[in-house]
Amino acid sequence: MRTPIIAGNWKMHLNRCQTAQLAGELKVGHKWPGQVEVVIAPPFTSLGTAAEVLQDTPISLAAQNVHPKDQGAFTGEISPVFLVELGCEYVIVGHSERREYFLESDDFINQKVKTLLAKNLKPILCVGERLEHREQNQHYDIVGEQVINGVAQIESTEMEKIVIAYEPVWAIGTGKVATSEQIDEMHLFIRKVIERRFNSDIAAKVRIQYGGSVKPDNAAEILGLPNVDGALVGGASLKTSDFLAIVKAC
Ligand code: PGA
Repeated sequence: MRTPIIAGNWKMHLNRCQTAQLAGELKVGHKWPGQVEVVIAPPFTSLGTAAEVLQDTPISLAAQNVHPKDQGAFTGEISPVFLVELGCEYVIVGHSERREYFLESDDFINQKVKTLLAKNLKPILCVGERLEHREQNQHYDIVGEQVINGVAQIESTEMEKIVIAYEPVWAIGTGKVATSEQIDEMHLFIRKVIERRFNSDIAAKVRIQYGGSVKPDNAAEILGLPNVDGALVGGASLKTSDFLAIVKAC
């Protein structure tokens, strides 16, 4: 049985004061601990504030990015050690915005995944095709490759700690949600890729989230799909009532 996981990716939104407000509201409003895991990913500068507010609550903290090295001359980067210190449990890696605007490669993303596991942090590994890939019927190849490369050199015992987030790039922030059929068949495909790479036991344990314009009004349908184990929510995670409605639907 896979516990579903709803994660809010706040992206570059909400300062410390706004973070205290939203995290405080979520703390009061989250009524389903145990049934659904809730995670929020504020910007780096707000992580400390969120950690204080969410102390002793079932809501976990994620960072939106990490550098693969523990320390060194990497101006502007954040070490996984710092994230552990702040109380993070998860880290989002390979988000399409990182791949597109910061040219992150599968190999670099894989280095991050390995580092996180070594530090006992859980990666939320994002994968997803662009619109032209889908139009040219290359979406399975692209997503399959991103999954395989992202989990390269990972031990099977570590694989179940990784959450995969399938986010078709054309559905992120566009209001254009993938159809239930497109979502479920891709999630099934990803599970098959994990099964081939590891085994069916591991594949059955890995949680696969959907992300891309998840809103209160489409959440129940998406989260009810057999191969969907939660959602990675962007825009709708910035509004308490919307995010909680998605958690409730889950
Ligand atoms: P969205 O973003 O929900 O605003 O489409 C999802 C994401 O980028 O993780």
